[in-house]
Amino acid sequence: MSELPKPLLTADQIAKRVRELGAEITKAYQGRSVVLVCVLKGSYVFAADLARAIDLPLRIEFLGVRSYGSGTKSSGVVQITHDLTHPIEGEDVLIVEDIVDTGLTLEHLLNLLGTRLPRSIKVCALLHKPSRAIRSVPIDFLGFTIEDAFVVGYGLDWDERYRNLPYIGTIAPEGDES
Ligand code: IMP
Repeated sequence: MSELPKPLLTADQIAKRVRELGAEITKAYQGRSVVLVCVLKGSYVFAADLARAIDLPLRIEFLGVRSYGSGTKSSGVVQITHDLTHPIEGEDVLIVEDIVDTGLTLEHLLNLLGTRLPRSIKVCALLHKPSRAIRSVPIDFLGFTIEDAFVVGYGLDWDERYRNLPYIGTIAPEGDES
C-alpha cells in the first residue's frame, strides 16, 4: 500500500464537472435557497468546492455518518455521529454525497431526513458505482459513473488515508477480495 493510487479522474476533470454541477443546481433551484447537507467525512472536499460553484443563497449543514462494514464492504447499518445543527422543516435540502456504492447509506439518510419534513429533498453525488447497487436510490445531480473499483482521494479514504489526494485514484485494498 505504499504506491500512489492509479489516477482515474484528474483534478482538472473533477473541477470542470463540479462547476457544471453547480450551474445545474443553480438553474434547478432558481429563486429559492437551499440547504446543502454534507455527509462526513468523505464529502467534505466535494461539498466545499460545490458550494462555491452554486450561485444561490445557501446554508451548509454537516451530517456525520459511520457505516459499519468489514474492510471495504458496507453493511447498510448507519450510525449518526454528528447531527444537523438546525431544523430543515420547510427547506429545500440537497444531500451532498461523495459516492453511492450499494445505495444503503443514501437510502437510510433519505428516510431519516424525510421524517424532518423538508419542502424537498434531492441528492447530488460525485460518484456512482451502479454495478454494486443493492438499493436503487434517486441521484438528481451526478458527477461521474465509475466502474467497480475502490477509489480514494478528493475526500475519499481508505482507512482514513488519502483524503488529501487532489485527484481520484484507484487502489486494491489489502485482504479485500471484492
Ligand atoms: P454505500 O452505503 O455502499 O452506498 O456506501 C456509501 C459510503 O461508503 C460512501 O459514502 C463512502 O464513504 C464509502 N465508500 C463506498 N465506496 C467507496 C470507495 O470506493 N472508496 C471510498 N469510500 C467508499
